[in-house]
Amino acid sequence: MSDTQTGPKLVTLTINNQSVEAVSGTMLVDAAAAVGIEIPIFCYEPRLGAPIGACRMCLVEIEGLRGLQTACSTPVAPDMVVHTKSPSAVDAQDGVLELLLANHPLDCPVCDKGGECPLQDRTFTFGPGETRFSEPKRHFPKPLDLSPLVAIDRERCITCYRCVRFSQDVAEDRQLTFQERGAGTEVATFTGDPYIGRFTGNIIDLCPVGALTSIPYRFVSRPWDIQNAPSVCGNCPVGCNTELTQREGQLKRVTGRDIPNTAVEEGWLCDKGRWGYAAAWSDERILRPIVREGGVEREVSLEDGVAAAALILSRAAAPGFLIGPAATIEEAFLAQALAATLPGGRVARLGIPGAALDPLRGLAGAQLGDLDSADLVVVVGGDIANQQPVVELRVRKAARLRATIVVVGPRAQQLPDRAQGVRTPPGQLVIGLGTVARALQDANTPIVLWDEADLAAEPDAAAELARLIAAAGARQIELCADV
Ligand code: SF4
Ligand code: SF4
Ligand code: FES
Repeated sequence: MSDTQTGPKLVTLTINNQSVEAVSGTMLVDAAAAVGIEIPIFCYEPRLGAPIGACRMCLVEIEGLRGLQTACSTPVAPDMVVHTKSPSAVDAQDGVLELLLANHPLDCPVCDKGGECPLQDRTFTFGPGETRFSEPKRHFPKPLDLSPLVAIDRERCITCYRCVRFSQDVAEDRQLTFQERGAGTEVATFTGDPYIGRFTGNIIDLCPVGALTSIPYRFVSRPWDIQNAPSVCGNCPVGCNTELTQREGQLKRVTGRDIPNTAVEEGWLCDKGRWGYAAAWSDERILRPIVREGGVEREVSLEDGVAAAALILSRAAAPGFLIGPAATIEEAFLAQALAATLPGGRVARLGIPGAALDPLRGLAGAQLGDLDSADLVVVVGGDIANQQPVVELRVRKAARLRATIVVVGPRAQQLPDRAQGVRTPPGQLVIGLGTVARALQDANTPIVLWDEADLAAEPDAAAELARLIAAAGARQIELCADV
């Protein structure tokens, strides 16, 4: 916060005889990358939290310090003099790569990651070029299904911890861990059960080798016979940035972008967005209109289907259109246009009536990226895990950073354990919204949530909510418009 008020503090250092300026706190590896100097990494991934220095691939020499240092976990310092290509740094990088490959199967020709693999790329760019190891490598039966959607080839793993950290610290499902030790180390779930969650596919994108692969995509294509194109996921309102892979005109894969959009999804995807594409050619997909006559369903042409629907609508005295919360704005607009052409036609939208949001107009307007700096996040109604899945990751991150999470609504949310809130009686969320709005506008307003009878079961939760909102006096609101 102080940085934005006083401006970021800049540090000047030297990397490979080049003068470099970087914001205080920047890790050496990023300061070097900003001026085009690549330091090899495997475990470093800032989206997973503070660096852990697990793989030792990024060793560099820093004048005045004994021993080599990991560039991913060493922040820049004034007048620091760094060598990433000195004989001792190169010797260490060669040694680490040689050790990482000691047990790696080098089955690149049949590995799904071949051609888009950081280990492959860094072995070509860095490393000794040949190994001194002639001993047999370790072998595991392969592959195992880590889940119905993710396969694991355990002998390819370089124990970088990325997948485990994602499970532990980002999705917070806390299922993945390392089992055994030494050459027997393998990624597994604590319980031995399949890794089931809402964000499991992200570990495939994170894995810097081909140890974790997508079962639906396994052996489907190679990097040289596909085309990738940037896109935006349309499965929910979040609109995560994606990359689509097509081969021979058919969509084969959806992945996160290499350069994440920090204002939206930060490079994560939910499993629905990642694997939902398979629905496009599901056998259960309805491709033609179906008309039911006399209790019998039959497929008809589009023209006949439209004619049948028109006949039904023309017979209705006052047709009503109910727009569900999952409908797009375009669908709602078209329904409204259609209703306007019909005598007595009306449209109603399920969810929070627009007027109910009026008290919040002056406060709303926060964007997803603002969650990172929020003191208080109030989640109103909705069902984040199913309706805006990646928002769940952002709310979890906000809670880890510093925010108090308050949930108001009729459903239990799948949010951090430390989220606090009040379950409202079904259909009464609008009253709760007004109460929250008043509390946010005037921290001195005593909060009365529902009447005593409604809250008899949760009086402590209501009192706690009142205390939290009044104490925070913050202006960040996450609105999920659904009762
Ligand atoms: Fe790292 Fe991949 Fe091994 Fe997980 S499976 S620890 S991401 S190399
Ligand atoms: Fe798609 Fe999931 Fe992102 Fe929604 S949260 S846009 S469904 S990837
Ligand atoms: Fe620095 Fe792994 S990238 S220790």
